[in-house]
Amino acid sequence: MELDLTGRRVLVTGAGQGVGLAIAEAFAGAGATVVVNDLDPARTQAAVERIAAGGGRATASAFDVTDPVAVADAVAACGPVDVLVNNAGNAGAEGFGGRGPFAESDPQDWEPFIRVNLYGAMHCSRAVLPGMIESGWGRLITIVSDAGRIGDPGSAAYSAAKAGSAGLTRALARENGRFGITANNLSLGTMRTDATEALWSEPDSDRARQILRNYAIRRPGDPGDAGAVAVFLATEHASWITGQTLPLNGGYSFAL
Ligand SMILES: NC(=O)c1ccc[n+]([C@@H]2O[C@H](COP(=O)([O-])OP(=O)(O)OC[C@H]3O[C@@H](n4cnc5c(N)ncnc54)[C@H](O)[C@@H]3O)[C@@H](O)[C@H]2O)c1
Repeated sequence: MELDLTGRRVLVTGAGQGVGLAIAEAFAGAGATVVVNDLDPARTQAAVERIAAGGGRATASAFDVTDPVAVADAVAACGPVDVLVNNAGNAGAEGFGGRGPFAESDPQDWEPFIRVNLYGAMHCSRAVLPGMIESGWGRLITIVSDAGRIGDPGSAAYSAAKAGSAGLTRALARENGRFGITANNLSLGTMRTDATEALWSEPDSDRARQILRNYAIRRPGDPGDAGAVAVFLATEHASWITGQTLPLNGGYSFAL
């Protein structure tokens, strides 16, 4: 089975690091031309250079997914997008507003979570859909979280924002399937990224063991795991999968 996406243009948001970067690299490895987006221009450019050094094709497009005008301009500039990966996300840091007991939270703290995780996916999907409808083919892939599927104590805003973007995906799947467009979510469990490296570099620590006890497969997710599944969802092999939320979580929870 070949996972060949030669000739496809793929926009990956928040691809300057972590999961998004791994997804961008996986698409480039499958022959696609990748438009690398991130908020941070230097990070965006570094990701493009890294992909090019690996023999892939990529261009940089730094913009803020929460800004509908910037999103529309960037999509107009890069040309028709065949595959959109809504990856840019904001889980919030410990001690940051919106993390902590819900009863003590301020409604204003919710805004950054809703704006990036939900409105970001909405703005980017709106910008690329007309081109997909016109061409009669498209793939929308949104990176969500088990926090949104099963809830995460202390992360009500993030959980709600991710559940919202997953619901957007389902509506877009129903509305646009007749145009040859599929829309799916990848729901991630705990990944091993720069942000969590300190934890996973000591896999025998009490904290790491405690977390991994909840995973049937006792390791954190590798960003490359997400890249491989995202590429598969963009191929013809996955043309009858739509409106789904695929748990990519080492068995932390199951979808029935
Ligand atoms: N890391 C995990 O364990 C985990 C678990 C479940 C879900 N997720 C989801 O996976 C996705 C990627 O997570 P990650 O750990 O790689 O995150 P990360 O914070 O390491 O990287 C996210 C990237 O998105 C960019 N970004 C943030 N806001 C943006 C905006 N408004 N516009 C454009 N770019 C923006 C950041 O600059 C950053 O480079 C997110 O949607 C996250 O919610 C991650």
